[in-house]
Amino acid sequence: MMRTHYCGQVTETLENQNVTISGWVHRRRDHGGVIFIDLRDREGLVQVVVNPDDAEKFAKAEKVRSEYVLTVQGKVCGRTDGTINPKMATGKIEIVADSIEILSTSAPIPFQLDDKVISEEIRLTYRFLDLRRDEMQQVLRTRFDVTRTMRRFLDDNGFMDIETPILTKSTPEGARDYLVPSRTHQNKFFALPQSPQLFKQLLMMSGFDRYYQITRCFRDEDLRADRQPEFTQLDIETSFMTEPEVMGYMEKLTKKIFGEVGDIHFTEDFPQITYADAIRDYGIDRPDLRIDMKLVDVADLLQNIDFKVFAAPAKDPKGRVAALRVPQGAKMTRKEIDDYTKFVSIYGAKGLAYIKVNDLSAGIEGLQSPIVKFFPDQVMAIMERVGAEDGDIVFFGADKAKIVNEALGALRCKIGEDLDMFTKEWAPVWVVDFPMFEVIDEETGALTAIHHPFTQPKATTQEILVHKNPEDMLSMAYDMVINGLEVGGGSVRIHDTDMQAAVLKMLGISDEEAQEKFGFLLNALKYGCPPHAGMAFGLDRLVMILAKRDSIRDVIAFPKTQSAACMLTEAPGLVANDQLEDLALRFRKPVKDAK
Ligand code: AMO
Ligand code: AMP
Repeated sequence: MMRTHYCGQVTETLENQNVTISGWVHRRRDHGGVIFIDLRDREGLVQVVVNPDDAEKFAKAEKVRSEYVLTVQGKVCGRTDGTINPKMATGKIEIVADSIEILSTSAPIPFQLDDKVISEEIRLTYRFLDLRRDEMQQVLRTRFDVTRTMRRFLDDNGFMDIETPILTKSTPEGARDYLVPSRTHQNKFFALPQSPQLFKQLLMMSGFDRYYQITRCFRDEDLRADRQPEFTQLDIETSFMTEPEVMGYMEKLTKKIFGEVGDIHFTEDFPQITYADAIRDYGIDRPDLRIDMKLVDVADLLQNIDFKVFAAPAKDPKGRVAALRVPQGAKMTRKEIDDYTKFVSIYGAKGLAYIKVNDLSAGIEGLQSPIVKFFPDQVMAIMERVGAEDGDIVFFGADKAKIVNEALGALRCKIGEDLDMFTKEWAPVWVVDFPMFEVIDEETGALTAIHHPFTQPKATTQEILVHKNPEDMLSMAYDMVINGLEVGGGSVRIHDTDMQAAVLKMLGISDEEAQEKFGFLLNALKYGCPPHAGMAFGLDRLVMILAKRDSIRDVIAFPKTQSAACMLTEAPGLVANDQLEDLALRFRKPVKDAK
């Protein structure tokens, strides 16, 4: 027998009993005549003592090095008072070894598992070792706790787990597809799913009523700290449920996950904010409501001033001039302001004007700023509108609305973090009333769907067909945002052929193209489609929040790098010429010239 107990579970309740444990050598210490081995398995560490009473056993213990795999048989003994380690679950006991068996040796490992700083490159290259570290074991356990809680909740509420294909046709979710060439259909490609969106809708049409799947999605897009090219969704779809009902279920599920896994108890209903209000107040559609600052529009006060930097966007219908008041921010140094100016330039801002509020009662004399001289008559009205108080700093953004929103939206979060302005630990919020469409090309007016093209607009088919300002049209889409992170999104779907055709038309997709791309869906809509709605959660992001990690790579067992490669397997890799021949493919560039 190789094991009677896990290392981490041998405690004082087993004192004087014989146990057999197996695991990895975490540390070996030679104390002149006695050898101590910390043996580790997934449940934790336990101290093994090897006395020199038996030469063969002792010789084996002397040979042991870090990360060797051993089986140890021995007796559980209480530690003497001075040697008790209260920080360890097994710290009151040690195992006095009767026998040791070396099951496997280990080459010296490239880093110590206890090292505090290990480069991510090394961690990802030797991921199998990195995953041995306690914190990674904990993270993957949290991940499992989350999926287990999800499954239990959904099983209890009548949802069925159904699989959908991975080799499929493009599902538009706004990213590039990963393509897989077909050998049996030359010149044709499968796309890996960006989400199971269309299949889950078809399952509703097939009458399954409540579906879920914890499934991989693939998106070839620019990666960030919270994005991976393959990531996992908890994907859900329901039939015959209204928007509030679906959102209610999803909120209940979220509360259950946070309660059971994180011991975080959301007692109130999640607040809701419209997309328009989120952009107006926070500059972003995933507001971090832990921070109590808001953007304030001031364009109307500045349209007729001589300072072009403000006046031009103030008059431009697509422009925005907004202020961000940072309470007690006047202490900021010149260097800090310069750094924030650099920070907003990442988002395209051409500058970051500011006013330090030293003494409001002194009027304009009490304000310190390079710009107040340009609008002396308006500045006090601005101070009043933003609610300025002595000791504050007020920042300004003036540009196209998109730039101001992104720059000041990001600045708000950055300053909130830098000055530790969080007013609460958790701030979940639903963002609702998303616009249906977004203009992607100002010149042609070409549109894209903000959620996806299968989302129900808040309009009739006729209204869609004649609508002059598609940008003003709202949709039945909702996102769940927690602490500024979009953890999930969904919508009520179109369940009517004419409406679906009208929306595809609005997106500039011809009938022919629509048939080619989504013919199967349009066809299915004709044969009795129930009203349906659903949502998908980003599992990795939920785990990031619950495990308090800043990088999505830390919550995935085998993640990809920022450049979408796997350092462990060195994927993507070259393929043999005959594989390409089978697929009837040839490179456009010789291998040596490829980027
Ligand atoms: P959406 O595109 O909003 O919706 O995706 C749902 C959730 O998945 C997570 N997510 C990601 N996580 C990690 N890396 C990525 N690259 C990535 N992209 C998205 C986010 C996001 O909220 N079919 C629809 C859902 C629906 O309508 O039911 C969809 O995929 O947390
Ligand atoms: P300038 O006239 O370019 O010297 O700018 C005067 C002040 O306005 C400086 O503090 C700049 O950082 C700031 N500024 C310039 N352009 C913008 C802008 N688009 N939005 C906000 N502030 C700006």
